[in-house]
This record gives sequence, structure tokens and C-alpha cells, in this order.
Amino acid sequence: MKIIGTGRAHPTKVVTNAMLEEFLDTSNEWIVERTGIKERRLISDERLEDLAAKASLLAIEDAGLKPKDIDYIICSNVVNEYITPSLSCIVQGAIGAKCACVDINVACSGFVYALDMADDRIKSGKAKNILVIAAEEPSRMVDWRDRATCVLFGDGAGAAVVTEGEGFLGSRMGAVSMTDCLHYVRCLEPTPYISKEEFSAPMYMNGRQVFKTAVMLSSRDIKALLADKGLQPEDVKYYVLHQANMRIVEAVAKQMELDLSYFPHNVEYCGNTSSASVALLLDELHRDGKLQRGDKLILSAFGAGFSTGTCLIEWTK
Ligand code: ACO
Repeated sequence: MKIIGTGRAHPTKVVTNAMLEEFLDTSNEWIVERTGIKERRLISDERLEDLAAKASLLAIEDAGLKPKDIDYIICSNVVNEYITPSLSCIVQGAIGAKCACVDINVACSGFVYALDMADDRIKSGKAKNILVIAAEEPSRMVDWRDRATCVLFGDGAGAAVVTEGEGFLGSRMGAVSMTDCLHYVRCLEPTPYISKEEFSAPMYMNGRQVFKTAVMLSSRDIKALLADKGLQPEDVKYYVLHQANMRIVEAVAKQMELDLSYFPHNVEYCGNTSSASVALLLDELHRDGKLQRGDKLILSAFGAGFSTGTCLIEWTK
């Protein structure tokens, strides 16, 4: 497959570190030094599905298609206000598409996983034009009294339209079950028969463990994929990494022995937008005119699970 269109939508509410200082025991200096984040865009009066629909329509327009031309939708999402129906189904109606839809939840690795699945579906001949969406509101998963997590996240939606082509050069997907280091638990409705102990708890994250695991697995997978394709690190124009923390991006650059200029970033004004982050950054690079036909790009993300997804694409637009 190849990517023929991208789009993104951010919430309108911009929350700076100074605004967090007003109610949290934190400081702009601490947040910038440990994460690189200066501000984030957070859902306030919008609904996530509206952001997802806006990003999708922009991607479809960029692809030169109409919603009726889309024959499959894959949406990466961890939480939204609906448990069911799926966010992909809600967006399908909002944009006026008529096709099969599916949601996936691979935490922050979801957009890369969805591209990999779209490639399989196109190769099998089961779809021609696939809309891949990553829409996330991690700000609704954290405890806003917990300074160790709430300062890190932002919300948003990114999308890409893919079709038949030769732009997907390879991928490495992985997962290791490490539920202790990062999780978010919600109680379901009670029944007269539930006798086990249950609880709801906001997101828990062991930041140091996530940091080390992310750097180790991401750089391992990127190196392995490049070796598999006979490429040197310098052959890739940009490494579009999950925007969780600027220090993680810098650590992966160091592992790859590459200058930081190979690693575009927007975490400083978006925060960690979970699986939307790679999609948002890809669209930003494309719309800012930074991508040329023939450029090789690595897209790589990690997230709860622990899941990892890395793919090598050639920009063909
Ligand atoms: N402001 C001020 N102080 C803080 C804050 C804050 N916002 N948060 C924590 N601290 C304090 C801690 O309480 C601790 O204080 P203590 O020494 O008195 O106990 C001190 O800062 C150091 O805390 P650490 O957690 O050890 O700080 P660290 O340098 O590890 O940075 C961070 C924390 C930024 C979370 C880092 O570990 C990290 O980035 N980890 C990766 C997180 C990540 O990428 N998560 C997302 C991946 S998966 C996904 O995207 C869902």
C-alpha cells in the first residue's frame, strides 16, 4: 500500500505549564527539563469523534477522494465516551462513508499497527482505499491531582488514507505482557452475581520502567528493520517516533548514533497524544512541505501492553 492523504485535528483548548502550576505542585522548569513539553491541547467542549471526523475528511480530501470511495476504516483508540458502538462506526456515519469499520486498541502503538493491518488487507485484495484513524483523549484517563502523569498528556486525532501501491516497505510489530508498569482500570456495571473485588483507578504508570523499555525496544526494532532492508540509518529521511517524551526521542537518536535533526518532534506543544501522535506528526511534516517523493520514513511507537510497532515507508505523494 501507499499513503495518499493525511489529516489532523487538535482541540482548541491550549493548556500551558504555567496553567498547571496554578493547581498542581509542579513547575514549568521540571516539566520542560524532564519531558520537553511546554503546552498541550486538551478536549474541553469538543467530542473526540468530531476531531476524528475532521481529521478523516482532511485526509480524504488530501487523497483526492470522497468519503464514498473509502471501503474500510480502521480506528486506533484507547478510550472515548462510548464503549460501544466503535469509534470507527461513529466516524463512518459522521463523514458519510459506507463501509466496514473496526477499532483497535494497541495503546500508543495503534496507528502503526493499523497501517500494518491496512497493508495486509490491501495485499489480500479485500479493500482498495482504507481510512486509518488514530483518535485519543488520554487526558480523560489520568488523575488530575497526580502530577506524575497528568502533565504528560494531550488529546487529538490524526488520519491517513492508504491505497494500492509500493510505499509500505516493511514492519516489525511486537508485544510483551507487562501490565504492571502501565494500566488504566474501569469498573463495569454491577450485576447481582459479581462476587469478586473490583475497582476503578486512573492511569498508573511506572515512568522509569516505561522510559527504559521504550528506548530499548524501539531502537532494537528500528535497527532490525533497517538491517533487514539493507539500509543504513542515514538512508532514512525522518524518524517519526511516538511523541511521549523528548528525552525518549533523544535517547533513541543516541542509540541510532544519529543527529537529532533526523527526529522531528511536536511533543513540546502537543504533549503525549497516545496513538494519535505519529499520525499528527506525519500530517504536520506533510503539510509543512517537509516530505518529498521517494523519502524513506520510519514510523515507530510504543505503548501500554507493552506494545511496539515500527514500519518503514516510502513517501510517494
Ligand atoms: N512536577 C514536579 N515534580 C514531579 C512531577 C511534576 N509534574 N512529577 C513527578 N515529580 C517528582 C517525583 O515525585 C519525584 O520526587 P521525589 O524525588 O521527591 O520522589 C521526582 O519528581 C522524580 O520523579 P521520577 O518519576 O523519578 O522522574 P523521572 O525523571 O523518571 O521523570 C517521567 C518522570 C517524565 C514520567 C519519566 O519517567 C518519563 O518520561 N517516563 C516515560 C513516560 C512515558 O513515556 N509514558 C508514556 C508512554 S506509554 C503511553 O504513551 C501511554
